[in-house]
Amino acid sequence: MTDRVRIAVQKNGRLSDESTKLLKKCGISFNKSSDKLFLRSSNMMVDILMVRDDDIPKLVHQNIADLGIVGENVLKEKLLADKTLNIERETKLGFSKCRLAFAKPKDLIDADLNNKKIATSYPAIVEDYLSKNSINAEIVEIHGSVELTPFVGISDMICDLVSTGITLESNNLEECYTVLESQALLIKSSKIEVSKSALIKKIVSRINSVIEASDSKYIMFNADSKDIESLVDLLPAAESPTVIPLANKNKVAIHSVCKEEIFWETIEALKFQGASSILVLPIEKLAH
Ligand code: PRP
Ligand code: ZN
Repeated sequence: MTDRVRIAVQKNGRLSDESTKLLKKCGISFNKSSDKLFLRSSNMMVDILMVRDDDIPKLVHQNIADLGIVGENVLKEKLLADKTLNIERETKLGFSKCRLAFAKPKDLIDADLNNKKIATSYPAIVEDYLSKNSINAEIVEIHGSVELTPFVGISDMICDLVSTGITLESNNLEECYTVLESQALLIKSSKIEVSKSALIKKIVSRINSVIEASDSKYIMFNADSKDIESLVDLLPAAESPTVIPLANKNKVAIHSVCKEEIFWETIEALKFQGASSILVLPIEKLAH
């Protein structure tokens, strides 16, 4: 076996761009090319496998890939369909958020799932949902163009991924029940070879840093010394703010990392409490 770490990512689809962007932010250099399934990093002992998202859990289970980036929806479907799969879940990555939901044609009045034919690419998840909710319905498994099936007589309703809702809307369908919320997830093989474990640990830790940093912001502002406490209280998830005295004795500068998005409402509240020269900066990397 090679000592190079292999990471499986989706070749084309909702996860692809963000997945390769994330790996680049972790310092892994490679050239993306549309016809290659195997990308060799030029600066790290890493190879990237560009595959169908549906294949990623199995590749990681079989230890053909050490790491993979996959949607929780696909992972759950595969785990339910094959109980022998052994995969470690690492970090939720915060992108490619979507949900798996039932939908019905707008002119179908009754949204009851009982005795309906339901078309889906997620038969195991739907089966699980139906049995847990004691619903008796028929599942029609289909891959691709699920949204068309009610109009060609194959199904009464569908269960499919929804993100913006545009696909449902443009096919005259309306959402009824959510089955699962999903986002991209980092998964890891449970059979990592010793020779690769240090590098894999490093990559996982870098991915965690990038994800944590992307939620975080650095905020700086000036204020009167008397307002320090009330202003710091307004900061979302602030990590030990730094207070720096300014030339004007009654004034200070406050700097802090905030582990959450800083919304306009917070900035307006800070201003109202006397803060001035407020500056919010993105954080690229955050290591502990
Ligand atoms: C899903 C789903 C819809 C679309 C919904 O397919 O099947 O076609 O996304 O998104 P919207 O609500 O923003 O319109 P996807 O592109 O994920 O393909 P895949 O399931 O074959 O990977
Ligand atoms: Zn897919």
